[in-house]
Amino acid sequence: MKPIVIAIDGPAASGKGTLARRLAAAFNLPYLDTGLLYRVVARRVLDHGGNPADPAIATAQARGLGRLDLGRDDLRTPEVDLAASAVASIAAVRAALLDFQRNFAASSGAVLDGRDIGTIVFPQAAVKLFITASLDVRAQRRFAERQIQGHTATLDAVRADLAVRDEADRTRTAAPLRPADDAHVLDTSALDADHAFAAAAAWVNQALAKV
Ligand code: DC
Repeated sequence: MKPIVIAIDGPAASGKGTLARRLAAAFNLPYLDTGLLYRVVARRVLDHGGNPADPAIATAQARGLGRLDLGRDDLRTPEVDLAASAVASIAAVRAALLDFQRNFAASSGAVLDGRDIGTIVFPQAAVKLFITASLDVRAQRRFAERQIQGHTATLDAVRADLAVRDEADRTRTAAPLRPADDAHVLDTSALDADHAFAAAAAWVNQALAKV
């Protein structure tokens, strides 16, 4: 059987990461959080004192990215959120990360989540999901995560940051965030993780029955 790819896209804090991890476990597939790739590039640029919006510097870091970098524990800070959004808008950075993402799924298939998995990275994916939720619900979720991590940002500040990043991800010219034409769209505003998983797993099973 051809390795199956499950492509999951959506805005920040939509619940796509939780869903992707559960699908990977249930269908016995490797999982890649592709946002981490952009976060590592951003972190490396910041570590070198560079400007994340500088295409030459960001692209050089993207080309040097290795698997080990993904385990760093300083990738989910507000500073990296913004820098990752900046490097992600650079077309050459995105191009430099394509092979890594495609190779990841080459031998055994994979679940990948991000912004452009169903549109650009794996347009032939067996299953494409686009996960959304209202800005307020996403802000609440991200705020709760940040509190557990010990950050002190207010709910309003978290909501404002999300709105800025959403706008940047949706309106950039390089691989803007949008559902693929053949994606299943799932709004998780009123769904808990179990219900979101049940809906998604049904779509995956449907697709597997056709493979
Ligand atoms: O999912 P995340 O918040 O960790 O993603 C970090 C940034 O990277 C975010 O601004 C969107 C961008 N990104 C992207 O452009 N394409 C992807 N496939 C994944 C993330």
